[in-house]
Amino acid sequence: MTDKTGQDRVLIFDTTLRDGEQSPGATMSHAEKLEIAELLDEMGVDIIEAGFPIASEGDFRAVKEIAERSRDAVICGLARANLQDIDRCWEAVRHAERPRIHTFIGTSPLHRDIPKLSKDEMAERIHETVTHARNLCDNVQWSPMDATRTEWDYLKRVVEIAIKAGATTINIPDTVGYTAPVESADLIRRLIAEVPGADEIVFATHCHNDLGMATANALAAVAGGARQIECTINGLGERAGNTALEEVVMALKVRNDIMPWSTGVDSTKIMNISRKVATVSGFPVQYNKAIVGKNAFAHESGIHQDGMLKNAETFEIMRPEDIGLASTSLVLGKHSGRAALRAKLEELGYKLAENQLKDVFVRFKELADRKKEVYDEDIVALMRAGEDAA
Ligand code: KIV
Ligand code: ZN
Repeated sequence: MTDKTGQDRVLIFDTTLRDGEQSPGATMSHAEKLEIAELLDEMGVDIIEAGFPIASEGDFRAVKEIAERSRDAVICGLARANLQDIDRCWEAVRHAERPRIHTFIGTSPLHRDIPKLSKDEMAERIHETVTHARNLCDNVQWSPMDATRTEWDYLKRVVEIAIKAGATTINIPDTVGYTAPVESADLIRRLIAEVPGADEIVFATHCHNDLGMATANALAAVAGGARQIECTINGLGERAGNTALEEVVMALKVRNDIMPWSTGVDSTKIMNISRKVATVSGFPVQYNKAIVGKNAFAHESGIHQDGMLKNAETFEIMRPEDIGLASTSLVLGKHSGRAALRAKLEELGYKLAENQLKDVFVRFKELADRKKEVYDEDIVALMRAGEDAA
């Protein structure tokens, strides 16, 4: 699929409400899930994985209501590889204008060992369940869980079976965050080249962040031919989380020169949904988190602040407005220089002569040595103290 400019489109599949909610302690209420789904749909996410309908009555209701209210996004539900899960999933997603069933089974030796299925028995199960899902819905995604630790020959074999049984998207999960970028790209490239029918369907990448490589692995998979990225807002998800939506969207935007693929996401809505997800999940965003962290567009050191005041591009590769943030923040602290203090004083309505600024700067540095961050109120107090002393 291409966009208006003829550039290849990468579909954004958000799983904040399913994989994200699976992180211990991140449970969201019914109303919160509906609100997040609405924001995702509004910002142009292509597919929303709304939950795991068989997991609980609450999950079922949430997926069903999100499906009923959906506008443009495809609404997807997760189902294990059994007929009962798939039927329950269909009951929930079928209310959407554009429903999808996502069914999965663990294919690596460790995962095959859990249901005690032989390779042949598992292959048979995959054929049966994907066929069943496809008889219900014409949009079916299949995932070999722990694909990156599955033997190559077996992975190829089961992917081919799923395609023949009617899967329209094949997702390749790096369930435990084990792969690395070169391998991630190569795996997709080889599957597309070697599996019969692979060019008829969409390959997706689903990366976990156990080694901090989820975003890099997802983008590498796209370079290898994947055209759907599975991700979550703020990278929420099991253990160290999933690929962060805001990171892949902004990386594809900022480095479109070397990664020429577009998404349909309106990036100016990122900050708002990031804050919402942090609040409802109870998982605060780390200060130095890429794109949405409190410090991602903040500068304290004198050299950086001076540079930013002259030309924002000296120390920022994106504009804060591009993610829906009003402006960069120049934080005053002990590393700040005179230029930033002058700018702050002017913002607060103080216009000082050079010798006055010199004096205030000395007192500001004394204060900054005692305090981590100097706020507007501190500057006003500093000015008042100076006026009283005069
Ligand atoms: O990480 C994983 O393997 C998953 C699957 C259910 C797709 O979340
Ligand atoms: Zn996952």
